[in-house]
Amino acid sequence: MEVKYIRVLATGGTIAGTAGSAMRRDYVPGQIGIEQLLSEVAGLGISAELVGEQFASIGSEDITPAIWARLHHACKCALADDNCLGIIITHGTDTAEETAFLFDQTLPTSKPIILVGAMRAADAVGSDGLRNFANAVQVANDPASGGRGVLLVMSDNIFAARDVRKARTEGMEAFRGFPRGPVGHVTPNSLEWFGPPWREGEGARFAFHETMPKVSILFAYAGMSADDVALALAGGTAGLVLAGFGHGTAPQPVRAALATAAAQGVPVVRSTRVDEGLVDREPDDDTMGFIAARALGPPKARILLQLLLANGITDPVRAQEAFDRR
Ligand code: SIN
Repeated sequence: MEVKYIRVLATGGTIAGTAGSAMRRDYVPGQIGIEQLLSEVAGLGISAELVGEQFASIGSEDITPAIWARLHHACKCALADDNCLGIIITHGTDTAEETAFLFDQTLPTSKPIILVGAMRAADAVGSDGLRNFANAVQVANDPASGGRGVLLVMSDNIFAARDVRKARTEGMEAFRGFPRGPVGHVTPNSLEWFGPPWREGEGARFAFHETMPKVSILFAYAGMSADDVALALAGGTAGLVLAGFGHGTAPQPVRAALATAAAQGVPVVRSTRVDEGLVDREPDDDTMGFIAARALGPPKARILLQLLLANGITDPVRAQEAFDRR
């Protein structure tokens, strides 16, 4: 009988970071290799068969489309293997929500795919890495984890890729979900889902492309002028995401410049610079040709617009449907 296993794809981050001393505030991410991590996990008495591979040893601020492409390919191979129960990706927390959302949109939901990281380096006092990893194994081992898209496991919480964002720079409770909070609770020896799978049997929503069109995020600030829009367009951007005030607003000259860009075929998504909140469609969106980001914050709105453009979807009505989708 073939052995069932969980594929572990390592990219670095604080979960693999070390400071060399518990007294140091600074540390270097991505220092511990996957073999060392798995040998420490073996000491926890976890019974799952884990098969690891090192993809990168970076802080996640340095994640690139090339690394995403290699990781994505590895995920597809693992998903196609009948003996693979699920996938765990160890990842820095800074861009984990972006990798999670990109893969969520471009991989089928058939088997669990879990991102996991840590807020404290591996040799810090009270490090959270091994516990988060043990929790991720618990989720990957559960067949009921399928049909929920890509998940992120941190601080005993399970978040859906579409909802999750890093909301704090420090502390182990750094992640929050919006509009849903956690979709489940996990410890190394327990797992509770707060509801049934919501994406059962779904295939990939978009084809993955290593090279995607450039999409810029414009961060709104008091006194912002239309120059920022002109600069982004001059830089060759194919789409714009406004990280607007409150409900996705911006000064009138900026809105006018964005409407002109939209009329010239550069899609414009209105999102918000506020940490949490819906940006719903308004009557002006029809006249100005804007797309409302709904619950997606600027980084994920940018990825979704890139995916739409890369897959040839430029019609604002179809684009809005993609932003409206849960
Ligand atoms: C990183 O994102 O790689 C550094 C921060 C972290 O993992 O918490």
